[in-house]
Amino acid sequence: MGIREELERIGKDTLQDLGKVTDTQTLEQLKVRVLGKKGSLTALLRGMGALSAEERPKMGQIINEYRARLQEALDRKMDELSAREKEARLEKEALDITEPRDKVEIGAVHPTQAVLREVLDCFTGLGFEVVEGPEVELDHYNFELLNLPKNHPARDAQDTFYVDDNIVMRTHTSPVQARVMLSRKPPIRVVCPGRVFRADEIDATHSPVFHQIEGLVIDENVTMGDLKGTLDAFARKLYGEDITTRFRPSFFPFTEPSAEVDLTCFNCRGKGCRMCKGTGFIEVLGCGMVNPHVLEMCGIDPEKYSGFAFGIGLERITLLRYGITDMRLLYEGDLRFLRQFR
Ligand code: DAH
Repeated sequence: MGIREELERIGKDTLQDLGKVTDTQTLEQLKVRVLGKKGSLTALLRGMGALSAEERPKMGQIINEYRARLQEALDRKMDELSAREKEARLEKEALDITEPRDKVEIGAVHPTQAVLREVLDCFTGLGFEVVEGPEVELDHYNFELLNLPKNHPARDAQDTFYVDDNIVMRTHTSPVQARVMLSRKPPIRVVCPGRVFRADEIDATHSPVFHQIEGLVIDENVTMGDLKGTLDAFARKLYGEDITTRFRPSFFPFTEPSAEVDLTCFNCRGKGCRMCKGTGFIEVLGCGMVNPHVLEMCGIDPEKYSGFAFGIGLERITLLRYGITDMRLLYEGDLRFLRQFR
């Protein structure tokens, strides 16, 4: 077959194939087959060596023109196909924003957490700083520095989870007081929320894991009046202007004097109901003036400084706040219970 015929055949075949191609990948293969290094047209150009000297330039021109035309046809097709492919891709990737989707359950802030936020909000508003301490605590901080030396009878009141002889799961948030006093200089004004642990059986009012919020203020001339004023402000902010505090004498080794504080019952607003057992008051926290011996052990001069401390039971005020009668509801994660707080 002569070069001319061969050329025509290649041209015809290529155009025919081009008509059938529907994607850029196949088109690319076709291009390589014809115009590539080992392509049919390229081979034809190479074969020109066999031609005579005067035929060669003429034939060369013809082949090159052919080549240019084929190239152009292939390019045009390439543009067309890639535009179409791009469109198809965009269409496939498009989001149908009208498509209905699975229903998403929206959670609720857990009641304990909601009350904690309110309490912290109240105290930070009064100028307190929020500080946290470790849940696994040295006996030294949990007991010793709080005036509860080994064999002190008050230790019996706290059924402690011991990790070893010197390490406990903290039984209250009070060790954070000691840590703060040892690491800072007065004036000190902190609240310390956190998890605490006691070896109690679970029932409607007890759990081996619960939460407390510790408060500590140390400065010059801090009095019991400041303590009372602070707790009154807390009670009113959280539960309303008609709520008052009632201080009853008590004992804690780390405070002297010590008191237990009741608030006007949030349920009956003081009239007396089942929740407050007819008294109109509900016990919510322990407090007192920091024992001078504790100040001393924690590196603070009791001649110059005084302070007060308090410990609030978070679950207790949460239960009272919402009129919940069983503490276990707070831990079970029952959605029917939790949904009520949305
Ligand atoms: N730590 C005490 C407890 O767990 C609560 C408490 C009482 C904390 C009096 C105090 C306080 O800071 O002054 O029962």
